[in-house]
Amino acid sequence: TSDKPFSDRTPNALGGYPLQRPRRNRRTNWSRRLVAETSLTPADLIWPMFVIEGDNRREPIPSMPGVERRSIDLIVEAAREAETLGIPAIALFPNTDPKLRTGDAREALNPDNLVCRATRAVKAAGLDVGVILDVALDPYTSHGHDGLLVDGEIVNDETVDMLVRQSLVQAEAGADVLAPSDMMDGRIGAIRRALEADGHAATQIMSYAAKYASAFYGPFRDAVGSGGLLKGDKRTYQMDPANGDEALREVALDIAEGADMVMVKPGLPYLDIVRRVVETFHVPTFAYQVSGEYAMIMAAAERGVLDEERAMLESLAAFKRAGAAGIFTYFAPRVAKLVG
Ligand code: PBG
Repeated sequence: TSDKPFSDRTPNALGGYPLQRPRRNRRTNWSRRLVAETSLTPADLIWPMFVIEGDNRREPIPSMPGVERRSIDLIVEAAREAETLGIPAIALFPNTDPKLRTGDAREALNPDNLVCRATRAVKAAGLDVGVILDVALDPYTSHGHDGLLVDGEIVNDETVDMLVRQSLVQAEAGADVLAPSDMMDGRIGAIRRALEADGHAATQIMSYAAKYASAFYGPFRDAVGSGGLLKGDKRTYQMDPANGDEALREVALDIAEGADMVMVKPGLPYLDIVRRVVETFHVPTFAYQVSGEYAMIMAAAERGVLDEERAMLESLAAFKRAGAAGIFTYFAPRVAKLVG
């Protein structure tokens, strides 16, 4: 048979060509839609936003074209837009005045800090939109680390005490979901217990359970203004990109300690971790398409080497295929308009 043209061959004992022609299902648009295994909807998106002081103020972030820091009034406006677009939740990150960044991160505990005021303003608007706040000290420390630095070390338990107090302040301000992104040991349990004891039993916890020490956070650190301050790196608390099993141990601990939802971060380079977490634990698992991933797509599109819109949609569809319940993405409003 091998000397005959392919099209003349008869099916072999295993079936196969031409009885099996996988292209049949792909031939038309309606058929492709019919057999699609996953889909991307506005309900899959979480929109991260950067908050600054002022009134009716926006500031571009050069490394993240299309993303702006916004004053609180404009954050409320964006939250309304999220509701209109069907985006279920926003995540707020403060760009704290450098004068308020200290070794002890005390501004994190100020009930009137930028992110608490923004949260109260959004919640006062009565929207069907959840507010997610990071729990970590990096927007407030003079050294840019997520924890307290003592004799050159990020000290775990003293940091957890701070994170517990920060969590209570943020829950009091009205945050719906607290998202500890610091990677200290034991913080989920400590925060959960404090919330229960303090009348915040309904406050959800989404833990950044598997957060890697990544090169892809650069533009975010520009956006919150901690990049230039950072001394050294975060490898003594964020995970080694070489590790996968360790991510499962981290997730197991956070679930046991009371996390309602877990997150893997960054996104695309860690889809194997997303899949393993989903299949192992069957808890709502989120992924964060981080600032560097956003910047890569935008920069490549700017150079004309790829189609921005298609790359954006394909990258986000990949998270759904991997099993993510939702995705933090700076593309959120753009995507919601396209898929809504
Ligand atoms: C800080 C925090 C970071 C991000 C979210 N929370 C940066 C870091 O750990 O240095 C990164 C988000 C992004 O890059 O888009 N705890």
